[in-house]
Amino acid sequence: MSTPIIKIEGLHKEYSLGKVKVPALKGVDLEVPAGQFVAIMGPSGSGKSTLMNILGCLDRPTRGTYYLDGADVSRKSDNELAEIRNRFIGFIFQTFNLLSRTTAVANVELPLVYRGMPAAERRKRAVRALESVGLADRMTHKPNELSGGEQQRVAIARAIAGDPKLILADEPTGNLDSRSGEEVMAIFQDLHRQGITLILVTHDPDIAGHAERIISVRDGRILSDVMVEDRLDAKKLLAEMPAPEETA
Ligand SMILES: Nc1ncnc2c1ncn2[C@@H]1O[C@H](COP(=O)(O)OP(=O)(O)OP(=O)(O)O)[C@@H](O)[C@H]1O
Ligand SMILES: [Mg+2]
Repeated sequence: MSTPIIKIEGLHKEYSLGKVKVPALKGVDLEVPAGQFVAIMGPSGSGKSTLMNILGCLDRPTRGTYYLDGADVSRKSDNELAEIRNRFIGFIFQTFNLLSRTTAVANVELPLVYRGMPAAERRKRAVRALESVGLADRMTHKPNELSGGEQQRVAIARAIAGDPKLILADEPTGNLDSRSGEEVMAIFQDLHRQGITLILVTHDPDIAGHAERIISVRDGRILSDVMVEDRLDAKKLLAEMPAPEETA
């Protein structure tokens, strides 16, 4: 088998709040082959965002190792991690995280600016990315001149403009109505078909049903991890899962 794009072993994360230690991840092992579409579910406080931050090289584990595309990134410096994030990973957040006074196209260009890409190439890529998410006619709109669904599509364009291998999305549909949420998921399906590895955190079983693998996290550990053969299986499986309030 080829090298998994993600391989984590014995991952622990403890936050320090003054003298108090808050264990957020308590021994997570996970392998994700390149090109897989994974959904992570679990109750509030179970460690999903903590895991995503480590997968995205925004944070480091307290203990354990993380191999990203075969390279151990658990102990790299901040500068090295920033470089890896910029080249390799696209991020999508619940709250879009766009610059409010900046046009859609300039928001999408921003990560490419940090990469030192020439302006013309940058613009070409940003325009192409916005076209691919159906926003060809919204290039010069600022975030407050766009709907929530459109803002999230700008954020997706920003995430994909640099051709990442891995896209991490933490509750990308959490602030959207169901129709905009489905539009976002249609784009994710498209990215999946292009071979990009996608990891998505969601509380919504219908959203998780778009993925091919569903991992549920409880109290800092992986509770279940299932491959979904088709959408009907996913629906059945999710119906059988205990509701978050029963296990939180
Ligand atoms: N920066 C931090 N400092 C201290 N504790 C933290 C910090 N970030 C998260 N925690 C704690 O770590 C645990 C896991 O938090 P995390 O944000 O990963 O949960 P989550 O599964 O993403 O929850 P939600 O569904 O509400 O987003 C929680 O107990 C939380 O209070
Ligand atoms: Mg979270």
